[in-house]
Amino acid sequence: MWQRGPMRSRGSFIVFEGGEGAGKSTQVKLLAAALRSDGLDVVTTREPGGSPVGERIRDLLLDPATGSLHPRAEALLFAAARADHVATLIEPGLARGAVVICDRFVDSSLAYQGVARHLGLDEVARLSSFATNGLTPDLTIVLDVDPVAGLERARRSAAADRIESEELNFHRQVRQAFIDLSAADPDRYLVVPASSGIGETAEAIAGRVSELVGHAGGPRIGAAEVGS
Ligand code: TYD
Repeated sequence: MWQRGPMRSRGSFIVFEGGEGAGKSTQVKLLAAALRSDGLDVVTTREPGGSPVGERIRDLLLDPATGSLHPRAEALLFAAARADHVATLIEPGLARGAVVICDRFVDSSLAYQGVARHLGLDEVARLSSFATNGLTPDLTIVLDVDPVAGLERARRSAAADRIESEELNFHRQVRQAFIDLSAADPDRYLVVPASSGIGETAEAIAGRVSELVGHAGGPRIGAAEVGS
């Protein structure tokens, strides 16, 4: 396995996680706009998907017509999409110093396949680490939503996909898994309750991200070179 040396991942990798209808896509857009207005190079992307092959695997995974899939096959398809996405989009973005913002990543596999599909966290963590070649987010933002409210909201905007259609108890386990993952590594997580409004949530996220991006020192588009 490669070592993550100083030549890799010079940018910042920020992931949004949460259950259905948590409002991730709104917050991804707001954060990206704020960082771009500060002159940062920002890439926004999502999982499953994010690359042409990843998007094709996404269609297969989310289409209700796919029907039931063995949990191991499901986990492998998410991992295959992720491996392609990391290699073709995320790592190149990080290598050039961009802030890469991804809607869902490995923690979704841990929560949905590892916990709710009962494959086990260790097995799914191993599979995920193979897929990502060890890449982990610098910061994960968990938008915590009660599944009853989240599912209702998600179903207002689109028909339920194959995974969203799972029973309420499945989604309750997913929610708890995100909370447990964040509690185990609080320095690398920010949990924001969905009861906060859109603006308040965006502010909390921007505050935390500015600490990270400040430390990471990503390049600013068009920023004047400062002579030494
Ligand atoms: P999507 O429409 O992106 O959901 P949302 O808008 O809530 O983010 O669909 C992604 C679905 O796939 C969602 O139900 C979560 C699930 N998923 C997994 O089960 N495992 C994974 O590794 C990923 C990335 C997503």
